[in-house]
Formats: sequence, C-alpha cells, structure tokens
Amino acid sequence: MVETAGKSILFDPFISPNPLAKDINISKITPDFMLISHGHQDHIADAVEIALQSGCTCIGIWEVMNWLEKQGVTSTLGMNIGGGHDFEFGRIKLTNAVHSSTMPDGSTGGVPCGFIVENSNETFYYAGDTALFGDMCLIPKKHKLKTAFLPIGDNFTMDIYDAVEAAKLVQSKHVIGMHFDTFGYIKIDHTTAIDVFARAGIELVLMKTGEIINI
Ligand code: NI
Repeated sequence: MVETAGKSILFDPFISPNPLAKDINISKITPDFMLISHGHQDHIADAVEIALQSGCTCIGIWEVMNWLEKQGVTSTLGMNIGGGHDFEFGRIKLTNAVHSSTMPDGSTGGVPCGFIVENSNETFYYAGDTALFGDMCLIPKKHKLKTAFLPIGDNFTMDIYDAVEAAKLVQSKHVIGMHFDTFGYIKIDHTTAIDVFARAGIELVLMKTGEIINI
C-alpha cells in the first residue's frame, strides 16, 4: 500500500493465503483505492473482501474490473493499456506488462498491466508481473520517476539482472523489489540482489512484510 496526497492506494492484495503475511489481518485494511495489475490469484486473492469492507474504488484492466463486479464489487473503473485517468490524488496510467492474466475461476483477465501514478509530489511506476521489454524506455520520456516497483523473483517475472536493465530503461535510481521469496520458485539471495543493483548505481529496497518506509 502506498500513501500519497492524503489517499491510500493498495496494490494486488495477496495476504490471507500468503505464507509470508500470516501476521496481517485483512479486516483492518481499508484503502481508498485498489489497483489490480492482473487476474492471477497471487495478486487478487483478497481483493473482493477488502473492496467490500472498505468501499474502495478498484482500478485496472476492463476484464478484471468486470470480474470484480460479478463478485459484488460496486466501485470500479475499467481501463486499458495506454489510457490514463485523473483522480483526486493524481493521475493513473496503465502500461504494458509482458505476462499472462487469467482470473482465479479460469475466466479471461484480458491482458496484464503496470501502472504509473503521478501527482505534483511524486511519480512512480508499479510494473506488475512482467518480463523486461524494450518499450519501458518510453516511460521516462514523459514521466520522471522517483521510484519503480519492479518484480525481481525470476521464474514468473524478471530476475534481478533483467530488473537492473528495466530500472535503467525507466531511469529510476530507486527500486522497490516485488514478487520474490513468497514461494520456492522465486526465492532470492538478498545480499546478491542488493549488490547487483548497487553495481549499476541503483538502490534496491527489499521490504519486510508489514514494514513502513518513506520514499
Ligand atoms: Ni502473475
């Protein structure tokens, strides 16, 4: 969850089935907005419950928002790649992500996406689950990033080496790692990861579950 301009934005909630998040009680999570990058279970597991209890507005690809509405979620904004929308806390734009997207019940999730969140204080890129792809270089043409949230766990997404190249393409010197350690397939060596980024002049932050940081 990110707090900016007085609003809380929750991304891809995978908490109650997450072996690394046992201490987090989802009944206490009440975001103003929820951004969903794609339909996979490890990104949407708690989305319906949190949306219903908080009344937050859910934002993402049209097909994923359609699915949430079928589960009873009423406040959604379906968007698509390349489109942006102005909210009270700033602007959100959907970016490409090279991955797949199927909903937990097997129905289509359309295509996966990433997000750029921008307001007068900060701009950040949340890549979602993705491979490294060349068009990331287009992002800094319009958006000067303060930080980038990049997947680094390998197997399903970029590994640390591709994520360094991604950070260079989006021109962010500050990266918050995502999509690592949760399962055996994506366990990483933290010291190696931080060193590989540092050698490229990029700070990699590996947050602990429940940790709060200022950016
Ligand atoms: Ni995924």
